[in-house]
Amino acid sequence: MFDLPDADILPVALEHNFWTWSAQAKVVPIPVTRAKGVYFWDVDGKRYLDFNSMTMCVNIGHGDERVINAIIEQAKALPYAAPEMATKPRALLGQLLSEITPGNLDHFMFTLGGADANENAVKLARGYTGKHKILSRYRSYHGASAGAMALTGDPRRNPWEPNLMPGVVHFLDPYRYRSTFHRTNPDISEAEFTQDYLNHLEEIIHYEDPSTISAILVESVTGTNGIIIPPLGYLQGVRALCDKYHILLIADEVMSGFGRTGKWFAVDHWDVVPDLMTMAKGLTSAYAPLGAVAMKPEIAAAYNDVVYQGGLTYTAHPISLAAAIANIKVLREDHLIEHADAMGPLLHRMLADLGEQHPSVGEVRNIGLFGIIELVRDRKTKEPMSPWNASSPEMAALRKALLENGLFIYSHWHTLLIIPPLIITEAQLAEGFSIIDKALAITDKSVRK
Ligand SMILES: Cc1ncc(COP(=O)(O)O)c(C=O)c1O
Repeated sequence: MFDLPDADILPVALEHNFWTWSAQAKVVPIPVTRAKGVYFWDVDGKRYLDFNSMTMCVNIGHGDERVINAIIEQAKALPYAAPEMATKPRALLGQLLSEITPGNLDHFMFTLGGADANENAVKLARGYTGKHKILSRYRSYHGASAGAMALTGDPRRNPWEPNLMPGVVHFLDPYRYRSTFHRTNPDISEAEFTQDYLNHLEEIIHYEDPSTISAILVESVTGTNGIIIPPLGYLQGVRALCDKYHILLIADEVMSGFGRTGKWFAVDHWDVVPDLMTMAKGLTSAYAPLGAVAMKPEIAAAYNDVVYQGGLTYTAHPISLAAAIANIKVLREDHLIEHADAMGPLLHRMLADLGEQHPSVGEVRNIGLFGIIELVRDRKTKEPMSPWNASSPEMAALRKALLENGLFIYSHWHTLLIIPPLIITEAQLAEGFSIIDKALAITDKSVRK
């Protein structure tokens, strides 16, 4: 289609592009040319098994003609309309989302991705409550714009401090494997464990003064910071604290939404209805950029006579909305939510098998097709295979070996994340696990005897 030989993609891209999250001299991009199902190919015809759905977003898998054709049809009919206009995809997508989102969430603001969805959720909450503070967790990522970075608890925020949105206070995550509160009491019951973390949150609410707190923002299941699955009662407890202190609950479902955990949204596992919910990634399976903020009717109604001060040129972009509608249809028609749910126990068994065979596997966790392997030097002390917020020679070598053997996977510090397209079969999962199984010899060698 474009006049550039495949062999020139990499050199020309390197000459003229600036790469995010990267030291420019160190980037080694894969020159990718096509993708289908759970695989993609580079310019040399090398095939990669995609265990990260690219950026944890291609939920329905690559190259689905139904979504591609919806984009083409919409581009022919009306590629763009101004933010103040109503279009067919805008009408239909709002209706569709109100059917699949929890409880009475029934109004939707459209953004371009996850960061601006979170920024707008915070604006809506602040405007609605008249309060300004937001509580979010340390092990969280909410996006890279100034407001979303402030909400983010993980170290990606630190280089930009203090010039970020003020008014955010962080609290601890109910992360059982490395729980600060329970190092000497690791066998505590789930109910008590949950209560300890709810008490911690309530203490912070008191210190910060509930009359200043607008919202609590949580990733329903924490993504890059460790696939931290909330213990039983935790999200319900956070909801109850929000109700008790007149604080809004915002669920960030950017990564955990659209079937990733085996339900439409992760909050559905615990029947929790947030006041605001943000989404992106799996909303279109990344066939086109789109984010959204779902809100309860009373929040939308608060702006009936008051102007909502915010917007984007590309809000409700018809091409992206058409992609989202077709994507949701694919998720429904192909029963991919049910498939992800059914694959959860299979993934769990494969993860557990790895744990049994490799001394460098400290812990594995998953919910649906959202999984993680934590690699350690010592199972007893849980010393991670790379330090906090850093890599290590072993993790770098592991990543290289996996890629060389055709497995595209996301590795965060001492962890490997397993986030494949939801269409993945048992045989394809096993194919990826056999590559991981061989490569873990690298980290096993560094386990303390
Ligand atoms: C949980 C979560 N929230 C928000 C974001 C930000 O989304 P985006 O990169 O589309 O701005 C991400 C991106 O990875 C995410 O994982």
